[in-house]
Amino acid sequence: MKKMSSYANDTHSFAKPNEAVAKHLLLDIGVDFDKEIITGTATYTIESTNANNIFFDTKNLKILQTFVDKKEVKFTLGANDAVLGQSLSIPIESDSKIVSISYETTDKTEALQFLNPQQTADKKHPFLLTQGQAILTRTWIPIQDSPQVRLTYQAKVKVPKELMAIMSAENPKAKNDTGNYVFDMKQPISPYLIALAVGDLVYKEISPRTGVYAEKSMIDKVHYEFADMEKMVKAAENLYGKYAWDQFDVVVLPPSFPFGGMENPRLTFATPTVIAGDRSLTSLIAHELAHSWSGNLVTNATWNDFWLNEGFTVYFEMRIMEALYGKEYANMLASIGRQDLAEEIKNFHDQPEATHLKLDLEGKNPDDGMNSIAYDKGYLFLRTLEETVGRDKMDTFLKEYFNKHSFSTMTTEKFLKYLDKELLAKNKVTFNVNDWVYKAGIPDNAAKIVSDKFQKVEEAIVNWEKGTLSEKELSKKDWNIQQKIHFIRNIPTEISLEKFIALDNACQFSTATNSYIAMVWFEQAINHDYHGNNVDAHIENFLMTVGRRWYVSTLYKAFKRNNQVETAKRIYEKARPNYHSVTANTIDDMLGVSY
Ligand code: BES
Ligand code: ZN
Repeated sequence: MKKMSSYANDTHSFAKPNEAVAKHLLLDIGVDFDKEIITGTATYTIESTNANNIFFDTKNLKILQTFVDKKEVKFTLGANDAVLGQSLSIPIESDSKIVSISYETTDKTEALQFLNPQQTADKKHPFLLTQGQAILTRTWIPIQDSPQVRLTYQAKVKVPKELMAIMSAENPKAKNDTGNYVFDMKQPISPYLIALAVGDLVYKEISPRTGVYAEKSMIDKVHYEFADMEKMVKAAENLYGKYAWDQFDVVVLPPSFPFGGMENPRLTFATPTVIAGDRSLTSLIAHELAHSWSGNLVTNATWNDFWLNEGFTVYFEMRIMEALYGKEYANMLASIGRQDLAEEIKNFHDQPEATHLKLDLEGKNPDDGMNSIAYDKGYLFLRTLEETVGRDKMDTFLKEYFNKHSFSTMTTEKFLKYLDKELLAKNKVTFNVNDWVYKAGIPDNAAKIVSDKFQKVEEAIVNWEKGTLSEKELSKKDWNIQQKIHFIRNIPTEISLEKFIALDNACQFSTATNSYIAMVWFEQAINHDYHGNNVDAHIENFLMTVGRRWYVSTLYKAFKRNNQVETAKRIYEKARPNYHSVTANTIDDMLGVSY
């Protein structure tokens, strides 16, 4: 009997890894674009104590047959839970080694989004993308879907021969003419990081270890936008140690991808809405790259510890951006996050426990905990800590933390113990850690984030409101994207419609090509009941094409808040078929509709 490591209790998984655990996955699948399903087998190398069964997570999968050491065995599916899905239990013996599951996905498989050619950039071929985080990998692979169950994987994927497949693994750099692709992920990763994209893609190198995938019509723009990727990896390595995944590539997906970015190891998935033409939204790449340490190397043990992934990543993102573009730039980004945090805390006024860093998501969808508290309060905590102990000590501590815990998972409690011993006690510093982690709101000692460039924007707003600065003069300001965002987000609620109209006429925000500017402007247009310059049509077009959850939920929320829920529902009914399930589920809940 082998000694097993001990896994924390994860209420979002049916697996019992302390009894029997999968260590390696061999995935052998085919993608059927006509039926819009994946079929194949997942074969696991397992380790067990004297368990009688091994448990996997599945959701809306059709399980066909199961085998233990090549012998067919009878499996059992548990009761269906609307969030978690069903447990799959397979009988094993103490010396069982290989468990194999043949299966098919169904039309309810939430992780997958099959796109028709019209939804792609080149409009010639269909596309498939997956999204695993938080608990969706179980909807396309039967798996022990807890972040603590790290495994290595190999995959064989068959796709139509006009298309190329890429995964969070060692990848092909060009299409072959068989449609058969093989993948290898040699480092153990959490199940939510297994990812697949299939489309008519091309690759363009930035440096020997970084590059981009995109559809042909996009590849040069994407390559230009992300030209600093190698510099980002170097800056990150200088801070917290060697990049552990060899290759860092980014694939730019069609606009329905539900996130800005997703840190799939070796292959970040990204929304095309960051391709602004002027490299103004590349902090997203710094963010996903930072996850190569915080998240992918040291992983939140359960979704209650999500802030360990995202808070650390935002902190690290700001440090990378500071290293490349200076303190002022990083402080502008941090100030935007600080305002988001203040708003999020207001939103949760009747649910203060949702503003704790450590969450209790038992019985809830882990998605409920995925708001800006983990990101921006997590960041503020680490920044305050940095300002308290000094940057040198902070960096030594973090570098050592990643190094010591690489390829393992971390609970909040384990981190706090380590923090206390290795940073606070060692340097004889006292810090109100418990207030930050286990209490609501923002503690009094929070770092003050100041940006000179944002102060200039705030002064301009005051003068504009007073009438001593005209819209014309405003439009001539030499502001960068972050300053424009800050300006638009802080347009006074009471400003007259006349001034609002004059502003749009001078600055042409309603037709902005930068997606972030457009999104925050559309939100203000809704807030101010503004309908000039064809803005309604631009908003509708945006919601019809973009599926990035943060963007579209901001706009639907604005409609709802401003008593325009009927407009929201009218647009949503048409747009919903273009959205990935994670975006659709969020908006269904928000608008109280079901389909
Ligand atoms: N890992 C997250 C995306 C995510 C979070 C997916 C929770 C599923 C559940 C990713 O790293 C992320 O944070 N993306 C952000 C961008 C970032 C710059 C804040 C996004 O998608 O907007
Ligand atoms: Zn993130």
